[in-house]
Parts: sequence; structure tokens; C-alpha cells
Amino acid sequence: MSDGADLDFFIKPIAGALGAEIDGIDLTQVEAPQAKQIREAFNQYHVLVFRGQTLSPLQQKKFAQQFGPLETHPYITGLDEAPEVVPIIKEPDEKMNFGGGWHSDMSFLSKPPLGSLLYAIEVPEYGGDTLFSNQHAAYMALSDTMKSILDDLQGFHSAASQYGRGGDSEKRNYGSMQLEVSDQAHQLVEHPVVRTHPESKLRSLYVNRPFTESIKGMQQSESDALLKFLYRHCEQERFTCRVKWEAGTLTMWDNRIVQHYALNDYQGQRRHMNRVTVGGDSPH
Ligand code: OGA
Ligand code: MN
Repeated sequence: MSDGADLDFFIKPIAGALGAEIDGIDLTQVEAPQAKQIREAFNQYHVLVFRGQTLSPLQQKKFAQQFGPLETHPYITGLDEAPEVVPIIKEPDEKMNFGGGWHSDMSFLSKPPLGSLLYAIEVPEYGGDTLFSNQHAAYMALSDTMKSILDDLQGFHSAASQYGRGGDSEKRNYGSMQLEVSDQAHQLVEHPVVRTHPESKLRSLYVNRPFTESIKGMQQSESDALLKFLYRHCEQERFTCRVKWEAGTLTMWDNRIVQHYALNDYQGQRRHMNRVTVGGDSPH
């Protein structure tokens, strides 16, 4: 797709590797034809940024539903009036932030979310940007030999390091966010280390630091070494873009092909976002 004159909006790429700003669209007014065009841009750029929106939780949900049924997070409590909408809040007196490390949302589910839509309500005066990394570009940058090794591997994922006993939710204080600690978080699911995007057919790396525990069939030391290499590889600057938020920015990203990282460089200031996630299918 090009930035063709027949589109209902303008597309402005924000980095060489991925990401685009979409101008000239009000997300409360999106009908099926625009949603189809947005979906095409999404498959091409993987991260889409919409500025200057005014969205209630129900309007954010309605827009997100154009891309599929919504998820309810198993371990985070959403809003009373809209449980699929999860407030992501850091108060001025909180030190740790949510999403502060490279990850792909909820890869611990057997059907992880297709995408996440994060809407900024209150942002710090400076800092609090989000980084995204293109996991297709990261895969393509590997040697053919490494690609063919990875193509046959499966990874075990779980939510244990975040939501399990002794995990982050238990250790950290997110204060304003209601995070559960659960035995169920220790359950392992298996996903291919390299997945194929169901729509674009692009191949991408699908392992991430908080949720991938090990590579199936390897000794722990082998698995640790390979995963360490893959994490350092896929987080390189050349695969990334960076989104600076304003109140009223909505960013949607494709969890099947990107990882993201919430920067924690605004201590003493408040940041408040609302997130919804769209359900996905089993990676293959
Ligand atoms: C998330 C997340 C990023 C951010 O909501 O999944 O990682 O910048 N947030 O808050
Ligand atoms: Mn996240």
C-alpha cells in the first residue's frame, strides 16, 4: 500500500524500521471502510499513532472492536464500567512503571492478543515515551543458518515472573494498579520461537524477557544462552521506533510482530493511560 490519494487519512512514517502517524481521522467516527484501511496500514507499519483524540473508555472499546473481540486481562483489574479497559497508571510517588522492559503483551496466553491500543489521558511534562521493536526485521537480519535453527524451535512461556508467587506483582508496588498474584500464572504454554503473521505472512521472532522461560528440548544453560543472544539481538536500535505521547494520543501496536518498552524516565510525575487488547489466535 502506498500513501495513496484514495486513502481517508495521511500516513507519516516515524522511523525506518516501523511505525507511522495517521493524520486526519477521528477515531470516534471510524466505520468499516476506514477500519479496513487502518488494518492495512497496521499490517504494513505495525505501530500506528493517532494524535489529538478524545476517547471515553467506551469509545476506545468501540474503535478497538473493529479489529476483533476484546480480551479481559487475567491478572489486572479493569474499569468497573468497562472491564476490558485497563488503567495503566504511575503516580508521582511510585518508582516502578508497568511495561518497563522489552516484552510482547501476554505471550503467556495460548492465544495472545493480536494487538494493544493504549490511549494517553495524562502524560508527564517530559519522558514516558514508549519504544517499539520490529521482530520481523530482527528475524530477517539473522544468518540463514541461525534462521533455520530457530525455525524448528518452540519456547515455553508463562506469566510467573510477573504474576506468579514471588513474581514482580508481589515484589513491586504499582500502587494505583490492581495486579493479582496467582498460582495459575505458573502454567506453561508453548509457542514457536519464530511465528508467521496470519495476515501479512511475515516471519518474526517471538520470545521476550518477562514471559519466555526456556526453549523446549534444551538444557537450561543452552536455553539461557540462546535467549540472551536473541534478546540482545532483537532490541537493537536499528529495529526500533519511539513514540512520544501527548494527552489524546492513541497508539495501537501489533503484538504478533513487535515488542515494546515503556520508558521510566519521569520520576515524580503522573502518567495515566487506558489500555485495551484485541484477542488473537494461536501463534504458528
Ligand atoms: C502496555 C505497556 C506501555 C506504556 O500497556 O502493555 O507496556 O508506555 N505500556 O505504558
Ligand atoms: Mn505492554
